[in-house]
Amino acid sequence: MEKKTFYITTPIYYPSANFHIGHCYTTIIDDAIARFKRLEGYDVFYLTGTDEHGQKIQKKAEEAGVTPKEYVDKIVEDAKDLWKSLGISYDKFIRTTDEEHVKCVQKIFKQLYDQGDIYKGEYKGLYCTPCESFWTESQLVDGKCPDCGREVNEVSEEAYFLKLSKYQKRLEEYYESHPDFIEPLSRKNEMINNFLKPGLDDLCVSRTSFDWGIPVTFDEKHVVYVWLDALSNYISALGYGSDDDSLFKKYWPADVHVVGKEIVRFHVIIWPIVLMALNLPIPKKVFGHGWLVIDGGKISKSSGNYKDPREYIDAYGVDAVRYYALREVPFGSDGTFSEKSLINRTNADLVNNLGNLVNRTVSMTKKYFDGIVSNPKVNESLDDDLIESCLKLNSIVCSKVDELKVGEALQEIFDVLKKANKYIDDTMPWILAKDEAKQDRLRTVLYNLLETIRICSVYLQAFIPVTAEKIFKQLNTDENTFESAKTFGLLKDGTLLNNPEHLFDRIEIEK
Ligand code: MSP
Repeated sequence: MEKKTFYITTPIYYPSANFHIGHCYTTIIDDAIARFKRLEGYDVFYLTGTDEHGQKIQKKAEEAGVTPKEYVDKIVEDAKDLWKSLGISYDKFIRTTDEEHVKCVQKIFKQLYDQGDIYKGEYKGLYCTPCESFWTESQLVDGKCPDCGREVNEVSEEAYFLKLSKYQKRLEEYYESHPDFIEPLSRKNEMINNFLKPGLDDLCVSRTSFDWGIPVTFDEKHVVYVWLDALSNYISALGYGSDDDSLFKKYWPADVHVVGKEIVRFHVIIWPIVLMALNLPIPKKVFGHGWLVIDGGKISKSSGNYKDPREYIDAYGVDAVRYYALREVPFGSDGTFSEKSLINRTNADLVNNLGNLVNRTVSMTKKYFDGIVSNPKVNESLDDDLIESCLKLNSIVCSKVDELKVGEALQEIFDVLKKANKYIDDTMPWILAKDEAKQDRLRTVLYNLLETIRICSVYLQAFIPVTAEKIFKQLNTDENTFESAKTFGLLKDGTLLNNPEHLFDRIEIEK
């Protein structure tokens, strides 16, 4: 039987400066979802990449005295290195300067023009260069860009327009008939009230005032508006419009576009309308997450209020950073990022809860039974709760991930680990060890702990893969599949555990 497919995307990031922890946030969350779906047996396509055109990048390159392509090449190389150090398992990294993408965008533009959905007119308006966004007077806040608070410029030029207005009704009907299309719900209401109710204006989709963009094939002084260029990445990456569109046929429509809250509107207004005009299916879901903030402000390239994420990875380990990004902020809300909370999270959950549990369990098995696993099944009633919690995890974790609540999925897993720690306190293996008659009970207790660790680690492979691998190595088992986590008792009698290895060191907070 063919596997079910799952297509997940991050936004493609502007390579205007090196990436910060805010970019890592989305990419790590998507990575965990992608890994989880693979584990579940889906055929996953995980796409990320870079959005390389536009006036902002052109300006940056000029300032740096290099060509735009040279400028972005360097940042892209650095971004790929960052994703590697975070263990990001993307299937494709798309760049909007890729030839295949450029051709695809040109084809889309031409088709929309030929069928009358794009027409030529004159653009007069206000433009925010850092956000690459057009605004109307009434949308400004104190005369400034409502998204970033910076100056907007008046521009007037000959331009092509996309007929958004023609599709407004169809879009509204689509929202109606697909209540899960935009999440969280608050973002949907915001879109309806702020953009649809006032009525959609046709969108300016070409520029002539700079040239770092994709040329319009039939009118070369125009370059394609960067958002039309960028949004098309989600299908150009799959070969849409090329000689080989097999990936497109296989994976489109996307299961979820995960994006930051400030760019939801591009994804739920412009993008579906482009797809409708192209007669293509609409993505199943657009999820708008909140921002990581520092001292109340968004961490951003322009404010410079951040460290290179690799500094955190070097200091605390990749899984501490991943765990923090996945666990700390409820997905959808804003959350404060601080190194102190990263340290507290790591100490509380990874060092105390997970690390200690694994270490104590493996060490006790080494100490009392030379590391040999066995399950004589001398069970007592207090075992039932632990075993049941392990078995229940499957459906709970799956549905949390399906709702994109990765932090809650992790919490469920860590609740079971917590229970296992309590089980050690309740059963007191060190007391059992002193009593000859209790040896089989002791074996059973340790077995239950090892199985709990194994089952939790199956799921942890999606979230903190390096640590999960280390645990499986200590357990010396290859029972690590999704299916294997549905059964309690797969760790074989006679398995010889490997030596315990510290998973996480306690981090001291500098005074
Ligand atoms: N290039 C566009 C996206 C095009 S997608 C077809 C863009 N790029 S961006 O680099 O400015 O931002 C990319 C993503 O990073 C956005 O989803 C944005 O919300 C996210 N983040 C940037 N800073 C962030 C935080 N401080 N916290 C969380 N996410 C943040 O927009």
